[in-house]
Amino acid sequence: MCGISGVVGMKDISNALYEGIRSLEYRGYDSCGVALMNRDKITVKKNVGGVEDFFRKENVLRIKSKVGIAHTRWATHGKVTKNNTHPFQSQDGNFAVVHNGIISNYRDLRTQLSREGFKFDSETDTEVIPHLLDKYFKQTRNVETALIKTLHQLEGTFAMAFISSHNPDQIICAKRESPLMLGIADGCMYLGSDFNAFIDYTKNAIVLDDGEFAIISRDSYIVKNYLTRAEVTKPITKIEWDSESSKKGGYPHYMLKEIYEQPQTVTNSLDIQSELLDEVVDMIYKSDHTYLVGVGTTYYVAQYGQYMISSLAREFLPSLSSDEFVSLSNVTKKSLVLAISQSGETYDTLSALKFAHAQGAQTAAIVNVMGSSISRFVDKVILQGSGPEICVISTKAALSQMIILVQIGLKLALKKKVINKQQMNQAMSTLREFPGIIEAILNERSGFIHRIANAHYKMKHWLYLGRGVYYPIALESALKMKEVAYVHAEGMPGGFLKHGTLAMIDNEINSIVFIPPKEDKKLYEATMHCVEEIRARSGFVLGIHFDERGKNKNLFSEELILPKVSPMIAPLLQLVIAQLFAYFTATSLKRDVDKPRSLAKSVTVG
Ligand code: G6P
Repeated sequence: MCGISGVVGMKDISNALYEGIRSLEYRGYDSCGVALMNRDKITVKKNVGGVEDFFRKENVLRIKSKVGIAHTRWATHGKVTKNNTHPFQSQDGNFAVVHNGIISNYRDLRTQLSREGFKFDSETDTEVIPHLLDKYFKQTRNVETALIKTLHQLEGTFAMAFISSHNPDQIICAKRESPLMLGIADGCMYLGSDFNAFIDYTKNAIVLDDGEFAIISRDSYIVKNYLTRAEVTKPITKIEWDSESSKKGGYPHYMLKEIYEQPQTVTNSLDIQSELLDEVVDMIYKSDHTYLVGVGTTYYVAQYGQYMISSLAREFLPSLSSDEFVSLSNVTKKSLVLAISQSGETYDTLSALKFAHAQGAQTAAIVNVMGSSISRFVDKVILQGSGPEICVISTKAALSQMIILVQIGLKLALKKKVINKQQMNQAMSTLREFPGIIEAILNERSGFIHRIANAHYKMKHWLYLGRGVYYPIALESALKMKEVAYVHAEGMPGGFLKHGTLAMIDNEINSIVFIPPKEDKKLYEATMHCVEEIRARSGFVLGIHFDERGKNKNLFSEELILPKVSPMIAPLLQLVIAQLFAYFTATSLKRDVDKPRSLAKSVTVG
């Protein structure tokens, strides 16, 4: 939620700052602003709209500067207006601040500062920061002390950075809960909400921890703890992602590129160190209760895990939406919380983990972004290695997380002797076939899926139905449709239809039914009942199934027939189809696919 980037170098930095902030747009794109130091004067430019538009309209690249910070906003406090856009300046113009997070006591601070004569131009919580810096600088004549005094006043969460005419060659930043990292290069230093902000320039990063602040100049940096003021020696983290994988590579949208990357990312999840998965399985085995938590897509991934692990290992691991988890009262030191998060920064999920930790429970996580807050907080982390996922809509990361959960289910089943080694090997070879199957489907069926999406893109309501493990697949598929196409899509267990929803069936609602392969006899038959129930009321059904062509003549309104695959990968293959269906519906509706409205990839506020 909100992105921060900063550069301090020897030459003009505006281009690097532009690239940095543009690569953080997935965190929010309501408005954008920069503060650039020119000798010892600060120039601030800001406006509503996306990064590219802003830089072009305001001619930002023409401003020469060696020190600058930038911000892309996802509005929380205050509407999307120019006045509410970061950076915010002190009244004398000597401080310019960008911030990600929420200052929870900002109302009190604002009242106090107003009484003291400070004027506010915005409705944001952030604007108290430059005023506090100004106030304390005037008292102490020292920027660092002014910062420390300011930080002591702030409640809530922040990753913040500022430049000041009093120290014109530096960027100063501080962190509590919201992510912030430094990029270290020769003669140039970078700052970013994540690695993407500087991955093109350096692979050496320093991840700031809560309670730390940093002062960065073009050829040095110092990190200190803001409670003790003691210097902290920080390890350099080597970024393993390559910058090419963050580029669009000829695809019209990141979403499509990332869907097409799935054969590779599934392979990466299958290549995760077996011993690491064993360690997590061991934690599950030893715990009294293991909870799977996530939000949005990752909550559905957790639900998928709940079904798969229950059927593979005969073990019920309840899944909960992270924001709900803190309401549970039976978490103990014998519990384990296994969180799932692409970004590793989601506030709700981090809070669930902190809550669990406070009860003495063990914590583990499946995370995509290395160095992220969740990856560093938990007792054991599985880095999924899916590479940067730029589109706000999660596709490849979610599918890879599911593959990891299947492996955990299988390993747990083996440990509990529910399956033997041979069955385990067989299941693993089935999973190994999956990347090739996805590749073939993407190549052979995407035209057909495009056609169906194009024929029905005007439909305003969709029901997504599935039973058993196909139910979380239906939920996740419906979420894709809502997020990217802004079309009402409701995921539901097939059995729910007859408990009220059938009344909704008419020609203004279409249904998609996720049908299991026939060998899953009971589930197959039960799912086919749903199809019959809808068709009996003349409702439209798009059936995604594995039967032979013509087997279900006239039963479906549209059908998408997939090649026969093992029941273990059937629901996952259907998810890939649903991702493409949502994508093509969104392109037919001319949606902003990679940056859909009212969404941010990484929600770091509660
Ligand atoms: C937000 C995003 C969703 C995402 C969820 C979890 O709600 O808009 O797309 O699925 O956060 O994100 P995480 O990074 O924790 O997987």
